[in-house]
Amino acid sequence: MTAQEIRQQFLAFFESKGHRTEKSAPIVVKDDPTLMFTNAGMNQFKDIFLGNKSAKNARVSNSQKCLRVSGKHNDLEEVGVDTYHHTMFEMLGNWSFGDYFKKEAIHWAWELLTEVYKIEKEQLYITIFEGDEKDGLGEDVEAYNIWKELVPEDRIIKCDKKDNFWEMGDVGPCGPCSEIHVDIRPQEEREKTPGKELVNKDHPQVIEVWNLVFMEFNRFSDGSLKPLPAKHVDTGMGFERLAMVLQGKQSNYDTDVFSSTIGYIEKLSGKKYKEGTFKGEQERVNIAMRVIADHIRAIVFAIADGQLPSNNGAGYVIRRILRRAVRYGYQVLGLNEPFLFQLVELLSLQMGGYFPEIIAQSQLIEKVIKEEEVSFYRTLDLGIKRLNGIMETVPDKKISGIDSFELYDTFGFPFDLTSLIARENGYSIDEDGFNAELQKQKDRSKQASKIDKGDWVELLEDDKEEFIGYDSLTADVKITRYREVEAKGKRFYQLVFNYTPFYAEGGGQVGDTGFIRSSEEKVFITNTKKENDLIIHYADKLPANPRLPFFAAVNDKNRRLTSANHSATHLLHKALRDVLGDHVEQKGSLVNDKYLRFDFSHFSKLTDEELTEVEQLVNEKVREDISLEELRSTPLSQAKEMGAMALFGEKYGDLVRVIKFGDSVELCGGTHVSSTGKVGLFKIISESSIASGIRRIEAISSEEADRYINDKLRLVNEVSQLLKNPKNVSKAIQDLLDQNTKLSKEIEGLKAEKAQSLKLDLSKKILANDGVNVLIEKVNIDAGSIKNIAFQLKGEVENLFMVLGSESKGKANLTVLISDQLAKDKALHAGNIVRELAKEINGGGGGQPFFASAGGSNPAGIESALEKAKGFLV
Ligand code: SER
Repeated sequence: MTAQEIRQQFLAFFESKGHRTEKSAPIVVKDDPTLMFTNAGMNQFKDIFLGNKSAKNARVSNSQKCLRVSGKHNDLEEVGVDTYHHTMFEMLGNWSFGDYFKKEAIHWAWELLTEVYKIEKEQLYITIFEGDEKDGLGEDVEAYNIWKELVPEDRIIKCDKKDNFWEMGDVGPCGPCSEIHVDIRPQEEREKTPGKELVNKDHPQVIEVWNLVFMEFNRFSDGSLKPLPAKHVDTGMGFERLAMVLQGKQSNYDTDVFSSTIGYIEKLSGKKYKEGTFKGEQERVNIAMRVIADHIRAIVFAIADGQLPSNNGAGYVIRRILRRAVRYGYQVLGLNEPFLFQLVELLSLQMGGYFPEIIAQSQLIEKVIKEEEVSFYRTLDLGIKRLNGIMETVPDKKISGIDSFELYDTFGFPFDLTSLIARENGYSIDEDGFNAELQKQKDRSKQASKIDKGDWVELLEDDKEEFIGYDSLTADVKITRYREVEAKGKRFYQLVFNYTPFYAEGGGQVGDTGFIRSSEEKVFITNTKKENDLIIHYADKLPANPRLPFFAAVNDKNRRLTSANHSATHLLHKALRDVLGDHVEQKGSLVNDKYLRFDFSHFSKLTDEELTEVEQLVNEKVREDISLEELRSTPLSQAKEMGAMALFGEKYGDLVRVIKFGDSVELCGGTHVSSTGKVGLFKIISESSIASGIRRIEAISSEEADRYINDKLRLVNEVSQLLKNPKNVSKAIQDLLDQNTKLSKEIEGLKAEKAQSLKLDLSKKILANDGVNVLIEKVNIDAGSIKNIAFQLKGEVENLFMVLGSESKGKANLTVLISDQLAKDKALHAGNIVRELAKEINGGGGGQPFFASAGGSNPAGIESALEKAKGFLV
């Protein structure tokens, strides 16, 4: 059975049990600050479990793209070393939202595995939760009793909280779970050691395939558990592991999910991948190939959903994964130039059927990966040079923890590469010292990013906090819950209202600010953000009496300017597609009251003509004063028919909001002007590249654009006045520049002439003294010319000892030059001499044995310095 068929059968099976197949949510999480990446199928349903949102369908299933590389569920270090962990993997899942519970979940899982997929019942083991005293929870007897109707009791294992109580994170929805493990060892091994003894023992052939979670509780930050409003089912099955079982393989990497990628890596590297247990070189090759075959999927899926590699946050995680893959390719497989990008096409052919976002963007993904690789190979090159430098200078062939950490931290050079190269060259390396430095850095950044959130304090029962800010900027509200938060040493409060006019940061648009006022006090709202569907208002203080009614008001000026920039962004997007072509797709945006930023796919720099055309097109639409058509709740399919484009990496419901200004049609939750005329004026202020194939335009509108234009005009006026109001200002400036070049040339010529004649004068003043040609003089010429003359004389006069003093702009300068042979014969050192002489001019300096100079603040001391110079020849 191919992997495609396995996925298809799973979804069809649950459809037959009344489930609606959902699309995979994006792998990059944008609206939950507790997560960077989707790490389980249930993430997108978190709010339904918590009771913050009601479910449209009580039964759903899907195949979710997941990434476990950060936070509570992080498998990165295991990946490649074993044959069944992955960074990116697909999780097949079925959910019940307050509908069926343990009985159906267990029966259906068993039916699918044994009757549809036809896995031998004897190969399956079940685990159930044994209870936990600290949490006050007893054994999951209900699950046990259901299972024992299906499975002999000696194949049901009771396990503790670590294995059989699933939690999304430190806080949030959780519950006891029941796992299904499969034993794929050959018959004779199974007879020797019962599989039961190997469950949950990290055995590569006795592995968990499916986790059935019975969501019943919410974990609070003080560790306590409270029952959820309803009981739910959340199951997750590892798609790649299932493929291994059903295709009769011993490793996930032997299935058709990975085999063609591994085949390509074999071709690129000329090395062979061999399944089985090996030691030494073959083991290293196997691990490297698995790492690369795994990581390329994580990188491709993340970029497809809009997460470019970068220096912080989720982007940094992707950069590290990419570098880990390159490092294995470079170090173990001898791949000395970018190679990862070549795997993109293969992957898009293989996965694009179910995940079309990869096919649609494969060209861009390839470019981004290649650029990252090129830059990392450069880093490796520089790191190796630097490491060679360190090895030349360190005493006793020992590289310190500080040196290797600096290479790693500042230069991005991997530690294991440092230690490999060091060892190959006979150096030892202080690994403990490196780890200590690394730990210090981790502690520092943990401290810096630490956020302590108190639990919500509920004041009022409320189903859903309604956003009314499209129609109104004020409202009478009540606080339904609040919590205290501490981040970066600052304490503040997060408030939730029953209604809110405040727009929460999203779709590139910043969150609203404003205030709430009760009969007793006024509290400022400093920001508004979303956590999943919850709109959270940030306040520096908690109202003294939070139960009072409040009048809430959004800062209307900020909102007005932000809305103008948001509408301008839509017009810009449309204009870019009209001018550059339909390949232009939005890749990110930022909209606030000051400016707008729009990132989009396009493969070359925009010419001045293109920029002007785009700007003019937008301003034409502004002047047409097109009225806003807002469709608040339109079926996604209808919106697409109208020409709206769904963005990759965004999550859309069945009903969407459409914003239409003439032929600009977008799916958008942001706030907008009522007609384009209110954008006022649109002005592009910069165009740049932010990654290979991705351009950025920054622009302004409305009052900010007026101010910008007025500032520029004022500047032109000032320049014009300075030039005495010529008819053509730029020509007048060009004339000035030409004249300046001409004069500079003349000055250079005059200086050269003066220097020539001075040199002649000086050479006449050279006195022969006991075989030494001595020239000690005060001159009136700039430092550059002195150096010139000095070196010319050095070339012409043998055994020269020359000290020149000069004064320029109130400062004293001294120059000492000694012929090389003379410096050696008489052990003279120009640097030491000038340092001594500089004392007379209140200054300092230094240099080499044959040439040195010094500067000082006392020109009156030049004469005595020159006098002192004569003493060095005695
Ligand atoms: N949430 C559970 C898991 O990730 C089951 O889907 O294992």
